[in-house]
Amino acid sequence: MTLLFREGTPDDARFWADVYTAAQPIRPIDPAEMQYLWEHPPRSRVFHRWIVRRDGTDVGVASIERPEWAQVTLRHTSIGGELLPAYREAATLRDLLSEVERRALAESPAIIRAAANEDDDLRAQVLRSMGYREDRRSRRWELDLVAERDRITAMTEASRDRMRERGIRVLTLDQDRDPEILRKLWSMSEEAVKDVPTTLPHVEEPFEDFLDWLAFPGMHRDRVWIARRGDEAVGISVLEYPVERGIVGTAWTATARSVRGQGVARALKCETLMQAIAFGVDRVRTGNDGQNEPILHLNASMGYRPVPGRVDYLKDVPRPA
Ligand SMILES: CC(C)(COP(=O)(O)OP(=O)(O)OC[C@H]1O[C@@H](n2cnc3c(N)ncnc32)[C@H](O)[C@@H]1OP(=O)(O)O)[C@@H](O)C(=O)NCCC(=O)NCCS
Repeated sequence: MTLLFREGTPDDARFWADVYTAAQPIRPIDPAEMQYLWEHPPRSRVFHRWIVRRDGTDVGVASIERPEWAQVTLRHTSIGGELLPAYREAATLRDLLSEVERRALAESPAIIRAAANEDDDLRAQVLRSMGYREDRRSRRWELDLVAERDRITAMTEASRDRMRERGIRVLTLDQDRDPEILRKLWSMSEEAVKDVPTTLPHVEEPFEDFLDWLAFPGMHRDRVWIARRGDEAVGISVLEYPVERGIVGTAWTATARSVRGQGVARALKCETLMQAIAFGVDRVRTGNDGQNEPILHLNASMGYRPVPGRVDYLKDVPRPA
């Protein structure tokens, strides 16, 4: 039976979130967050999203995400797609991903990326059968805030002392009165993101995209923790709180290169966790590249336990003869 692709609109964001949540219930997607993302697409990127129909029924979703070609020297594009559980078998998933790939190829990329979670053998097999090779792994973690409460409390107290001794102020974004704070946090984040291990090059994020990111429904300025040393913004860590469904998780942690190794990230992460505990949150998730040694060490030492991560796959596109 042929799959038909219909262009998605922000009104389809709920269906999109429902499909991913039904197919992979351990990673629920928040419809409100998804709708916001569709309504505020990052400016440096091109998105295509489709609702996939078969025999008159919406059975899944498909997507392409890539940088604006003018932004990059390597033209890389990412494809994705998912099916409702009743339709989720190898042949249909392969048909879906092959059609997305065909559409991606029409935009002349040099390399295509796809991803499968570590507990999703079906997708991994389909991608391998389509010629994708494993590239890199991301680690995901979960922290039990009930069982680890004492550890986090003690670590927070020690971190507060350490920050005080070093003259580093730790506060939430809503408390900061510097009119330049947002620009400072943005440029510090842009510097830090270059230190995240990756195969495909990072695409620079314009300041307006950073503002849109801070305005996600799950983000709150009184829950964005920042570190200041004098006039400088030297760190940020933030937990995102899903509106409708999902698990509270780290949206981003970064510190300025000038303060690395001094406990600033630990101090910031501790504050986000203490706040979550005070809100009655019982567990939080985080994720990072599998070769990002400082954050791997930090997460393990804070009591996070690994949960299934993500595997990225790549496929080179042959150049036309
Ligand atoms: C990851 C990052 C936030 C850590 O910031 P930081 O302020 O240096 O962190 P801290 O000083 O609180 O802790 C770093 C810990 O990692 C350890 N560490 C540093 N490099 C390490 C390495 N190569 N291998 C193992 N551990 C390492 C430090 O010794 C320290 O541990 P300790 O407290 O037990 O001594 C910072 O490196 C960064 O901004 N990186 C780029 C952005 C990023 O990767 N963000 C996170 C993932 S998305």
